[in-house]
Amino acid sequence: DETKSPYYLLGEREGIQKLVTTFYSLVSQDSLLSPLFPKDLTETAHKQTQFLSQFFGGPPLYTEEHGHPMLRARHMPFPITDSHAKAWLACMERAMTAHKLEPELQNFLLSRLKMTAYHMVNTKDSER
Ligand code: HEM
Repeated sequence: DETKSPYYLLGEREGIQKLVTTFYSLVSQDSLLSPLFPKDLTETAHKQTQFLSQFFGGPPLYTEEHGHPMLRARHMPFPITDSHAKAWLACMERAMTAHKLEPELQNFLLSRLKMTAYHMVNTKDSER
């Protein structure tokens, strides 16, 4: 039943787009995360909207335009530590709270994102 997919519950493309906009505005104000990202986050936000759409059960927009996500490989140019994963997740949690998601939905989404975020870690905090 597609009306129960996280994609649908998030408000489909428009809901994800709004969440992602808030998320990157928080990322751009985060002193640990912002140095890793380009100044203009328009394209980054567009790709993340496409990715989260498919990650949460919606249309495979990211793969249609960019091919297989290979997210860990695409993050290898950036030194990502446990602290970055934690900061990334904190920004996402704040964005979700700002958009008043149902707590159950929020917990579910964050638990899935947590696995992906820690999977991106490629550097020890002590090596930064
Ligand atoms: C791209 C950082 C976690 C999805 C990027 C970029 C950076 C970055 C610096 C490149 C931005 C650009 O050049 O436009 C991080 C950090 C993370 C993290 C520090 C902390 C763990 C995640 C997670 C996801 C994700 C958990 C998915 C749920 C993406 C996507 C892109 C991206 C889809 C675009 C890839 C492309 O170039 O096509 N990330 N990221 N990231 N990130 Fe992350």
